[in-house]
Amino acid sequence: MRITINQIKEMKPKGEKIAMLTAYDYSTARIVDEAGIPLILVGDSLGMVVLGYQSTIPVTMEDMLHHTKAVVRGTQRAMVIGDMPFMSYHISVDEALRNAARFIQEGGAQAVKLEGGVTVAEKVKRIVDCGIPVLGHIGLTPQSINQLGGYKVQGKSPEAAIRMLKDAQALEEAGAFSVVLETVPAPLATLITQKIAIPTIGIGAGIGCDGQVQVINDILGSFADFVPKHAKQYAKLVDTISNAITEYLNEVKGGKFPTDEQSFSMDESILAGLKK
Ligand code: KIV
Repeated sequence: MRITINQIKEMKPKGEKIAMLTAYDYSTARIVDEAGIPLILVGDSLGMVVLGYQSTIPVTMEDMLHHTKAVVRGTQRAMVIGDMPFMSYHISVDEALRNAARFIQEGGAQAVKLEGGVTVAEKVKRIVDCGIPVLGHIGLTPQSINQLGGYKVQGKSPEAAIRMLKDAQALEEAGAFSVVLETVPAPLATLITQKIAIPTIGIGAGIGCDGQVQVINDILGSFADFVPKHAKQYAKLVDTISNAITEYLNEVKGGKFPTDEQSFSMDESILAGLKK
């Protein structure tokens, strides 16, 4: 049985912290699921860490569905959340609903995430009313990077802080089961966490949130381009992988790989017959 939104919501009043990670493929999702992470986000960050784009903007519904299916196949217990890509929910309520439904019906996800607060509340309500759990996402919303003018801390002025609180409240009212707060001053994230009844999941939003989310490549050190300030590297896979590949390269070039251990034998008499 997979984790449900009720189980996630119940963690807040109990003070149980929620750990969420991204995953984009079958084998990584299996490891994350078996480690006991309850929420797995197939983030549109895959555009940057898997597909090599400069931002999340070029990511399509087809990209997201392809990776969501792989993650769902690799998991049994975690709730898999599909991240709705840029322009898949902006044009109309109907289109937002249709694309959210594709994540559930075709992708096999149990919930969707979309960026925005007050401006997307109507869409969130319609999607939730149709039985699809929604995770909100406010603060730094990378799909609006051109409008925001860069990957900057959000909510620093009094007006922006009040707007963010209203966004969080609008998402709660629309029926979102939880909300991601990205790159928000820690005291503001703590205040928002206290003001709403649904769990907040922070990324670069401090310890006061009800949970934390990280891009898996950041915490494993497997993305060489940069390490965001909010990420802690629990491993340095770039070095581990690079060393292993160099050793393989040297062994192939030096005639040391494969050995008998990695090779297959055949009946000596058949071989002798072939040689004649
Ligand atoms: O796409 C993503 O990985 C995300 C998380 C950073 C919250 O939106």
